[in-house]
Amino acid sequence: MKKILITGGAGYIGSHTAVELVKAGFLPIIIDDLSNSDIGVLDRLKEITGQELPFYKGNCGDKALLNQVSEDHQISGVIHFAAFKAVGESTEEPLKYYRNNVGGLISLLDFMQENNIRDIVFSSSCTVYGQPDTLPVTEDTPRKDAESPYGNTKKICEDILVDVVKSKVGLRVISLRYFNPVGAHESSKIGELPKGKPNNLVPFVTQTAAGIREKLTVFGGDYETPDGTCIRDYIHVVDLADAHLRAIQYLEGQTQDFYDVFNVGTGRGNTVLEVIQSFEKVSGKKLNYEIGPRRPGDVIKVWADTTKINDLLGWYPKKSLDDSMRDSWNWQKSL
Ligand SMILES: NC(=O)c1ccc[n+]([C@@H]2O[C@H](COP(=O)([O-])OP(=O)(O)OC[C@H]3O[C@@H](n4cnc5c(N)ncnc54)[C@H](O)[C@@H]3O)[C@@H](O)[C@H]2O)c1
Repeated sequence: MKKILITGGAGYIGSHTAVELVKAGFLPIIIDDLSNSDIGVLDRLKEITGQELPFYKGNCGDKALLNQVSEDHQISGVIHFAAFKAVGESTEEPLKYYRNNVGGLISLLDFMQENNIRDIVFSSSCTVYGQPDTLPVTEDTPRKDAESPYGNTKKICEDILVDVVKSKVGLRVISLRYFNPVGAHESSKIGELPKGKPNNLVPFVTQTAAGIREKLTVFGGDYETPDGTCIRDYIHVVDLADAHLRAIQYLEGQTQDFYDVFNVGTGRGNTVLEVIQSFEKVSGKKLNYEIGPRRPGDVIKVWADTTKINDLLGWYPKKSLDDSMRDSWNWQKSL
């Protein structure tokens, strides 16, 4: 059974990816410092997979911990999710973000080289495209200056990976640029854990419907979009998890010193109002929302061209926006 190290594996996307890996016959080994997740996720992963997954609590940049992991397990690849992701916080505490997101990757790459581990899938983001000049965005769409230190860490990490591959140490890398992950596992045992005020639309929607928040404010209703609200490409987290599985399998077939990058989205954009309508339809709840002023720095519209991941990884999203809203709502209710 091949063992894949998942950094940040107790988090939102990492936990769903662990499930898909087990289903495909891999053994995920999880490292997480629980800075943005809960130890209870491990029990719930056991309930879903029927298996106790090896777990190491700590920082993915901690060499002693990594060495312990490699003494215990022969790791054949790494999926690197561990990072801080709050855009607003990153503008207030940029060093915290550079240290964790960039420093963490560098330590991990050192460890991989020392232990002859060749394959790594990296969590990047469509934030690297900023507001693109043409839509949909392909992987060749130029990256823009980052709007936040968080976004910049993703650009820098992509660049680091490209440079390390160029140095011909045998590394094989895929960067996955996620669009907007939403939804939860259909069991409602794992999902996005809300810590503090959510930054993303869907947790805000479900928390408002649950009465935790009084009202949802939609930032801007006068953009040049069909209904005036911003457009994003919402990808179900289980589909996104499946993209990681395919990426790690694809790397196994590549020659040394390989780098590639893939968009992971549905290829379709939805407005904020369409998301709200979908949520109201599947939940049967009327959402308390208002249209507020535009929010500075918001990208108006972005969605993915997914031809490359369709063609090369054979990956297609299976779940609809309604599925995402239903699973997000069931997860919220389970909380
Ligand atoms: N969710 C999104 O909207 C989104 C979009 C694009 C990219 N991403 C990227 O995907 C990755 C996963 O995101 P997520 O939504 O699952 O976030 P998350 O916060 O739920 O998961 C990240 C996990 O990493 C852990 N962690 C953070 N720093 C760590 C460190 N140094 N060592 C060990 N563990 C650490 C956290 O405790 C958490 O469990 C991140 O790199 C994020 O930047 C997320």
